[in-house]
Amino acid sequence: MMEVFISKTYDEMSRKAAREVADVLNTKPNAVIGMATGSSPLGLYKELVRMYQEDGLDFSQVTTFNLDEYVGLKAHHEQSYHYFMHENFFKHVNIAPENIYIPSGTTNNYQSFCQWYEQRIEHYGGIDIQILGIGSDGHIAFNEPGSSLSSRTRLKTLAKQTIDDNARFFENREEVPIYAITMGVGTILEARKLVLVANGDKKADAVAQAVEGPVTSMITASALQLHPDTKVFLDDPAASKLQMREYYEWIERMKPGAPKR
Ligand code: GLP
Repeated sequence: MMEVFISKTYDEMSRKAAREVADVLNTKPNAVIGMATGSSPLGLYKELVRMYQEDGLDFSQVTTFNLDEYVGLKAHHEQSYHYFMHENFFKHVNIAPENIYIPSGTTNNYQSFCQWYEQRIEHYGGIDIQILGIGSDGHIAFNEPGSSLSSRTRLKTLAKQTIDDNARFFENREEVPIYAITMGVGTILEARKLVLVANGDKKADAVAQAVEGPVTSMITASALQLHPDTKVFLDDPAASKLQMREYYEWIERMKPGAPKR
């Protein structure tokens, strides 16, 4: 089941999404959280940090698995996802460094690394809640259009659109890595809960196709429709192309009085 929540602002969207993560942690302190990079979940991370500082949200028993990493960037490279996660989240909360897993961008054996990564996730009992953003071409993690909906963690060649989108973070386009290691769509669908955040009008088309379009490997985020517990948190511009928008808002308004299962 896919539930859509539309907020007036990015901050409100981020707060609602962060509450989903906090709810999981409050019932399972040793939860396994799937982390995402990109600008979309920055507000969510900020809110989790605030909850840690002000409300005592505890990450001491948490394990995390990141979705993806660029190939060729060392962990301390400012555009690596290792660096991003450290700067924007890990260094601000009480997570144990040995409980943080991020795909390696510098392994010399991608295939066995990817298998090991999948085994680690399994070893920890699977991911309890996976945070996701969406690319403007509808990708989740680095599962570019055409990725198998049952794909596992693997090496992936980035689409030109993604390289263009991400070029803004590098000195020039030539510096953007061409390959990445990414969890597969199949890996992501095995998480118990999925939380996708998307903001801004640049995401409106991808969101509409993911939420209301057919399930297709051309928009890998559309595979989330197949998951029993997906929550999609949007700000106003990202929701602007949804045909059923009023219905989603109506469902949210009616929720408190809805018959309990
Ligand atoms: C990259 C990441 C995705 C992310 C996407 C969107 O491609 N691999 O996980 O969802 O960028 O990024 P942003 O949130 O900055 O728009």
